[in-house]
Amino acid sequence: MKKILFLFVLLANYLSFSQSPYTLPQLKYTYAALEPSIDSTTMIIHHTKHHQAYVNNLNKAIAGTKLESLPLEELLLNATLIPDAVRNNAGGHYNHSLFWEILTPKKDTKPSLELFKAIETNFKNIDSLKKLMNQAASTRFGSGWAWLILTPDKKLAVTSTANQDNPIMDVASVRGIPLIGIDVWEHAYYLKYQNKRTDYLGAIWNLIDWETVSLKYMNALSNPLLEKIEKDNWKELKDFYKIIIETCHPLEENNFGPIRELSGELYLKALILKKSTIPTSLKHEKTKLALEKMLILSKEIHAMVEKNEKEEHIRKKMEELHTTFHEVQAYCMH
Ligand SMILES: [Fe+2]
Repeated sequence: MKKILFLFVLLANYLSFSQSPYTLPQLKYTYAALEPSIDSTTMIIHHTKHHQAYVNNLNKAIAGTKLESLPLEELLLNATLIPDAVRNNAGGHYNHSLFWEILTPKKDTKPSLELFKAIETNFKNIDSLKKLMNQAASTRFGSGWAWLILTPDKKLAVTSTANQDNPIMDVASVRGIPLIGIDVWEHAYYLKYQNKRTDYLGAIWNLIDWETVSLKYMNALSNPLLEKIEKDNWKELKDFYKIIIETCHPLEENNFGPIRELSGELYLKALILKKSTIPTSLKHEKTKLALEKMLILSKEIHAMVEKNEKEEHIRKKMEELHTTFHEVQAYCMH
C-alpha cells in the first residue's frame, strides 16, 4: 500500500511539474564562458537561483487561474490588470531569457547593415547608443533594467524600467519590443563589481551578441506584438475597461451599488475616451462611431441613476454599453 501511495505521489509530482507552462531556458554557452566580464559564480547563481525562482514563482502564481492559458506576452501587455506576483515573475522570466540570449563569449560580432543604419538614424552611432544605454542603466535608482527597444512607430529608443518591469508592459512610460536588456539588479554584478555598477556597464558591451540583436530587430519589425503595443497604449480605453469591470460585472449578481456610486465617473471616463487620440491603426469610422455611442450611453446611464430609474432599465443600457465597449476592444485584437 505504502509503495502504491509513493508511486501516486511521484506521478502527481511529475504531472504537476510537466504541466508547468514555463521552464528555465538552457544557455548557449557555459557559465564560465563570459569571464572575465561576468564571473562564473555570478552566472551560476543568476541563472540557476534567481531566474529559476522567477520561473517557479510564475508557475505557482498562475496555477489554476485563467492566466495559465495566456501567452507570456499577453501577461506582460496586461501588467496593470494582473496580480503583482504574476507581473514581477512574468517580467523576471521574460527579461532574463532575453538577457542570456543577447550575450555571447564570441568576440567582435557586428550588427547587420539594417540595424547599423537604424542605429545611425536614431543615435548617430553605436558609441552614442552605448552612452545612452549606460546613462539609463546607471541612473536607474535601485533595481531594474536598461533597454534598447523598437517602438510602435518602428524607431529605436533607449529606456529603463524598475524592478522586473519591461517595455512591453502597460506600466512602462516608453513602450516597444526589447532588443537589448541590461540587468542592473545587484545580483547581476555585485560579486565581482560590488558597488561599481559603472564598471559592470563598461564590461557588458564586450559580451553583446550583435548578430542575435540584429535578428531580433528584423523579427521585431514584422512582429504583430508591435501593433498590439500601439493599440494597448491607448490608456483611456484601458481606464474605461477598469470602470466597466467595476460597474458592469457586479450587475450579474444584481449588485447595482457600484454603478449607482460610479455613474458620474463612468460618464467622465467615456468623455475622456471620446476626446483621446485613437491609435493610428484603429483610426476608422466604426471606432469613432462606437466611441460616440459609448459616450451617449454613459450619459444616459448617469442620468437614469440620478433620477433613480428602475434597475431593469439601467441594466439594459449597461448591457448595451458593455457590448459596444467589447466591439472597440475586438478591433484592438485584430
Ligand atoms: Fe537578474
